[in-house]
Amino acid sequence: MKVAVIGAGTMGRGIAQAFAQCDQIEKVYLCDIKQEFADNGKAMVKKGFDKRIAKGKMAQEDADKILNKIQCGLNEQAVDPDLVVEAALEVMDLKKECFKKLQEEIVKNENCIYASNTSSLSITEIGSGLSKPIIGMHFFNPAPVMKLVEVIAGINTPAETVEKVKEISVMLGKTPVQVEEAPGFVVNRILVPMINEGIQVYSEGIASIEGIDSAMKLGCNHPMGPLELGDYIGLDIVLAIMDVIYKETGDSKYRACTLLRKMVRGKHLGIKSGIGFYDYSNGGKVAVDKK
Ligand code: CAA
Repeated sequence: MKVAVIGAGTMGRGIAQAFAQCDQIEKVYLCDIKQEFADNGKAMVKKGFDKRIAKGKMAQEDADKILNKIQCGLNEQAVDPDLVVEAALEVMDLKKECFKKLQEEIVKNENCIYASNTSSLSITEIGSGLSKPIIGMHFFNPAPVMKLVEVIAGINTPAETVEKVKEISVMLGKTPVQVEEAPGFVVNRILVPMINEGIQVYSEGIASIEGIDSAMKLGCNHPMGPLELGDYIGLDIVLAIMDVIYKETGDSKYRACTLLRKMVRGKHLGIKSGIGFYDYSNGGKVAVDKK
C-alpha cells in the first residue's frame, strides 16, 4: 500500500513516520508546497530516530528501512497512492483546493481514499464540490506514539470507506474511534476548551503557569499540564479550534480567552515559535509570565 501525506509540518511528518513504520506500507510520499519543507519533515523524523539509536532503543538498519520508504517532494509526486492523508494548514479553502487538484490533476488511482487530518473543520464542507468523497482520519500529536485515530464520516462519505480507514488504523497499531461529524469531534471538543480554561485561570491570577500545569498533572494524572500542552500543540492551532467550535455552535462557553488571542497575535505560539507560556530557547523550558 502507498500513502501520500500532504503537509510536512508536525502532524504530517508524524503521520508519515507512523505509516512508514508499518510493514504493510510500501511507500510514503511526504509532500509539501516546497521541496525543502518536505525534506525538513523527513530530517526531523531522522533526528528522532538518531536520538533513539544513541539511547540504544533502535537499530540503525531499522531506522534506514523506515526512512527509505519516505519519499519527499511536491504534491505533484503523489500520482499512485492508495490513500491520501491531508495534514495541511487548517484553512478550509486551502484544503478544498488541495483535494480538488489531487483528485482532478494528480492522482491516477481511481480507488484512492482521500482523508483529512483536520482537527475540527467539517468533513462534509471539505468534500463539497469535489468529485470523490472525503473522510476524516484524525491523528494526535505525537502521531507515531498516540494510539487514537478519530474516524469521521461526512454526510457523503461511503460506509465502506469508513470501514476501510478503520482497518488501516488498526494495521498501524492504532485504535480507531468512529465519530459523527461535529465541531472538534470528540477529543478537541473536550481537550481544547480545557486548555482555554487553563489560560483563563492563569489570566485571572488564580495560579502561576507552573502551578496550573503541576495541578493538572498531579491532580488528574495528565501527562502534561494544559499550558504546556497548549505550547506543544501550538497556540495558533488551539485558537483556531476554539474559533471553529464557537462559530459552529454559537455557544459563548467556547469563546477563546483574550490572552490566548493576544499571544497568537504576538507570535507567542509555543514550541514552534520558541516561546509560549514557556521559553524554549537554548533547549530549555522556563515559564514566562504573560501579565
Ligand atoms: N515523535 C515520535 N516519537 C516521540 C515523540 C515525537 N514527537 N515524542 C515522544 N516520542 C516517543 C519517545 O521516543 C519515547 O519512545 P520510547 O519510549 O520508545 O523511546 C516515547 O514517545 C515517550 O517519550 P519521552 O520519554 O520522551 O516523554 P514522555 O514519556 O514524557 O512522553 C508524550 C511524551 C508522549 C508527548 C507525553 O508527554 C504525552 O502523552 N503528552 C500528551 C500528548 C497529548 O495530549 N497529545 C494530544 C494533543 S491534541 C492533538 O494532537 C489533536 C489536535 O488536533 C490538536
